[in-house]
Amino acid sequence: MLMGKTIIVTGGSNGMGKYMAMKFVSEGANVVITGRDLLKLENAKNEMEANGHSISIFQMDVRNPEHVAAMVEFADKTYGQIDGLVNNAAGNFIVETEKLSANGWKTVIDIVLNGTFYCSNAVGNYWISKGSKGTILNMLATYAWGAGAGVAHSAAAKAGVMSLTRTLAVEWGSKYGIRVNGIAPGPIERTGGAGKLWESEEAARRTLQSVPLGRLGKPEEIAELAAFIMSEKASYMNGEIVTLDGGQWLNQHPF
Ligand code: HXC
Repeated sequence: MLMGKTIIVTGGSNGMGKYMAMKFVSEGANVVITGRDLLKLENAKNEMEANGHSISIFQMDVRNPEHVAAMVEFADKTYGQIDGLVNNAAGNFIVETEKLSANGWKTVIDIVLNGTFYCSNAVGNYWISKGSKGTILNMLATYAWGAGAGVAHSAAAKAGVMSLTRTLAVEWGSKYGIRVNGIAPGPIERTGGAGKLWESEEAARRTLQSVPLGRLGKPEEIAELAAFIMSEKASYMNGEIVTLDGGQWLNQHPF
């Protein structure tokens, strides 16, 4: 499905990013994963190589536009083209809003919203300058349009990413044929979010109860959907945000 495509996955050394990267390489894509921690990147690379897949790593911070420019240059030099970008890098922590410091707010906004913009703009300009087309996938959360009690910074940032997704889908879709879509995952096991947001037994129990299907999602399920959206099979999908949450966000009045 993705044979010969080159895809960058930010925050690709663990959690959902790693599973998407694994799925993309298994479909024949060239993949560059990025992250701040070189050791985590190398571990992810070793894990994929042990499964017979090669992958490239690039150490960077999405908050730094110079790093982002270097990431684009690296992917282009390594593979001669870029076909897709997955804005997966995220930062989050649970905090009551009245206790959230200005720097805590700024940090999450910087990673999630500004980082998504820097990467999208750099890769978008790469495509525009080459006269080529590509596709962007942004990772959201259902609280982008709902309420993120305890994660106001992340919810506000994801809402911004949702707006950017739709705006770029229209602006770049009409001018350049660039598709921009999003996935809004619910609670997914083996991810950074699972580790941070459903840490306590009580939180995990409440989360499970809130999902009509009665289980957490699997990162492999997110990766399946991501691979479809990045592929030509989804060539008419643009500006769409696909929810994959077992029906959780609709479950307003559990009986
Ligand atoms: C209160 C906190 C805090 C906490 C950090 N801060 N953790 N405040 N409670 N638990 C504050 C710090 O005190 C500081 O403010 C500011 O935030 C910056 O903190 P640093 O540690 O200096 O930032 P940094 O090293 O850049 O790390 C960023 C990070 C960190 C977001 C804080 O957790 C991180 O790197 N996370 C990346 C991975 C991650 O979070 N993945 C989960 C994504 S889950 P002051 O004022 O003291 O200077 C996700 C799920 C969505 O997005 C979907 C769910 C359904």
